[in-house]
Amino acid sequence: MSLTAWVNGRFVPLDEAVIHIEDRGFQFADGVYEVIACFGGKFLELDAHLQRLQQSCDGIGLSLLKSGPELVELIHETYRRNPFDHAMIYIQATRGVAPRAHLLQKEIEPTLVITARDLPSPTPERLTSGASAITLPDIRWKRCDIKSIALLASVIGKQEAARQGVDEAFWLDDQGHLLEGCATNCFAVIDGDLVTHPLDHQVLGGITRHLALKAAREHGITVIERPWKLDEPGLSECLMSSTTNAVVAVSHIDNITIGNGTAGPVCNKLRKWMLDAFEAMKQ
Ligand code: PDD
Repeated sequence: MSLTAWVNGRFVPLDEAVIHIEDRGFQFADGVYEVIACFGGKFLELDAHLQRLQQSCDGIGLSLLKSGPELVELIHETYRRNPFDHAMIYIQATRGVAPRAHLLQKEIEPTLVITARDLPSPTPERLTSGASAITLPDIRWKRCDIKSIALLASVIGKQEAARQGVDEAFWLDDQGHLLEGCATNCFAVIDGDLVTHPLDHQVLGGITRHLALKAAREHGITVIERPWKLDEPGLSECLMSSTTNAVVAVSHIDNITIGNGTAGPVCNKLRKWMLDAFEAMKQ
């Protein structure tokens, strides 16, 4: 399928989709983004993603080129032009094009880009064995609750993970608590409870995190939002969540085997409950 992107007011073939070199996204990473999953034409938690996009914009004082029903229609139209069964919609908003100066001198039109691509599912092998990860000291900025396009730390984290032959890097705070991954939220099962770092400036309020906690609560699993460490007694499973993967077990972290080294029962149940909820949503 040849891909089509929406760029600042028009649909263009992806190969011809261009942004000016003085776009502040390119010059300063002065922008925010969203990644939304779409299964069989149904968007997963579209409202929540758009709400978070607005919060990210508010966080950096950015106005969107399109918002409300107009933006929703553009997202739908982008999907219609790239109708993958499992699709990933990417929205990027930047402050726009201006001669390079940190302080923006005058009002300019913000940039908005929307693309849709195929969203690959985790392999069956990955789902059974679980993913692997390393931990790294958190080198990111102090507003990780904003979905900023300034992702250099995450790129470095992912590169280091790949160099060590693992899938993800989890950021550690100064006390050694696991905050989140480069592109995932992370959780532990401790004494049967689902534990994850509370929402604050150190983690992104993941939409999938929210869905995972909701599914756990609905099925009688106690959810505790508190800082946690890998060496806590009673820790039997680790997992990570994101729009692109739902929830996936993490069976090895820093070469330590978690639980029995494969996807654990809580993760497997949680994934099933969440996928069942996605299927129900498609009906
Ligand atoms: N990343 N934490 C970070 C730092 C992330 O970048 C992401 C998502 C998440 C999970 O959020 P959600 O469940 O809303 O997808 C947590 C996207 C997928 C990305 O950057 O591609």
